[in-house]
Amino acid sequence: MAKKSYSVTIAGGGSTFTPGIALMLLEEHDRFPVDRVVFYDNNAERQEIVAKACEIYFKENAPDLDFSYTTDPEKAFTGVDFVLAHIRVGLYAMRELDEKIPLKHGVLGQETCGAGGIAYGMRSIGGVFEILDYMEKYSPNAWMLNYSNPAAIVAEACRLLRPNSRIINICDMPIDLMDKMAHMCGIKDRRELQYSYFGLNHFGWFTEIYDKEGNDLMPEIKRHMAKNGYMDGFETAGDKAQHIDESWVHTFGKAKDVYAVDPETIPNTYLKYYLFPDYVVETSNPDYTRANEVMDGREKKVFGACREIIEKGTAKGSDFEADAHATYIVDLACALAENTLERFLLIVPNDGAISNFDPTAMVEVPCIVGKNGYEKICQGQIPQFQKGMMEQQVSVEKLVVQAWAEGSYQKLWQALTLSATIPSAKIAKDVLDDLIEANKGFWPELS
Ligand code: NAD
Ligand code: G6P
Ligand code: MN
Repeated sequence: MAKKSYSVTIAGGGSTFTPGIALMLLEEHDRFPVDRVVFYDNNAERQEIVAKACEIYFKENAPDLDFSYTTDPEKAFTGVDFVLAHIRVGLYAMRELDEKIPLKHGVLGQETCGAGGIAYGMRSIGGVFEILDYMEKYSPNAWMLNYSNPAAIVAEACRLLRPNSRIINICDMPIDLMDKMAHMCGIKDRRELQYSYFGLNHFGWFTEIYDKEGNDLMPEIKRHMAKNGYMDGFETAGDKAQHIDESWVHTFGKAKDVYAVDPETIPNTYLKYYLFPDYVVETSNPDYTRANEVMDGREKKVFGACREIIEKGTAKGSDFEADAHATYIVDLACALAENTLERFLLIVPNDGAISNFDPTAMVEVPCIVGKNGYEKICQGQIPQFQKGMMEQQVSVEKLVVQAWAEGSYQKLWQALTLSATIPSAKIAKDVLDDLIEANKGFWPELS
């Protein structure tokens, strides 16, 4: 059957990831034909810079593509097959506060983990729902592939409050880790790896890795992890690759210590925030956090390249590059559109996939994806150590969503208190009171 052409809306048109993803869509045109792309953002000024540059690029490289950009939801979400969503409610200015406010109280500040992740979650739920509601109003059969963070909290909010929505929440961290593990084993394409994995988003473990002939790669990967963490998996992808800034490189190295805590499994890098929070605080600069690194790095680079294209009126010789790392998004869209039945790690209701864990938890497990959605692959029983950690963390995530839905100060205080990154209820309260102040206008009123 001939492939139809798809209409795609990118929500968060002004994101630093938008040009890379838009160009990647063009590159993957043969297997995922896209004839219409719309950028949507609620910040016209920010989006316009990215969109005008992309418009010039498309005119030169894909003249048949029907491209537009808008802040009007009706225009953005009518006649759409897929919505790719990567919004950041509050922009980097609020990310900076999420990172710096907890540090002032001696606890770590991170985009998606601990107090910072909780603060971002309280902002993000409403933004993602807004887009989901527009999609459902104007294109009820469309799928939303969401990677707006904090994905764990957003996914739990969807489970509780939008249970029938056609939204799939996904994260690219395990993809990068699989790239690195493939590289450690001399395998070029991570898609050749067969894996088992369980956990929550930014909170999980690989338990099995095989090559395409079914040979066990765990012994070799474990040898590398014990020696150098993920560092042996680094490819020299130049400055185009994601996760190459100094702080990320540290994180990949620190995975050695994270691995040592349970050498039976291969950990997600984000576990460092829960297992070594004291180390993270000690090695953080309270005046210059990851948000500053991103604003001085990725944001300047992407927006600089866009401005240059606009000024010159051509994208020839520009810094624009497809985000090769993001092809997993096309893999997922293809699976839904073409029933490829490929395996993806998705954030989905547990419902027995991890047999000794809360059935109502949103877990990250491998799934087979096809035209009718996903089927989970059972991961069976998980060990006591991980189960204990996950029970604590999933309770944090559930309490945040309940706090958001009910406007409950008490529940948000409990969420912060329960986070493994925060040592006491007192510190949790102090951090919370500062976060409430900083997030006026973004969070629901709490009482
Ligand atoms: P960014 O600030 O550059 O871009 C986000 C854009 O979203 C901005 O242009 C902003 O105006 C827009 N936006 C905010 N609220 C909106 C709303 N309600 N409606 C429409 N647009 C809205 O941020 P970035 O660093 O490029 O990251 C974008 C998002 O992608 C973040 O949430 C980030 O955490 C996420 N991300 C997730 C993964 C993953 O693995 N899940 C990977 C990379 C990035
Ligand atoms: C990883 C995570 C994402 C996160 C991204 C960017 O890919 O999976 O959830 O948003 O890193 O982080 P950065 O600090 O570069 O903005
Ligand atoms: Mn992620």
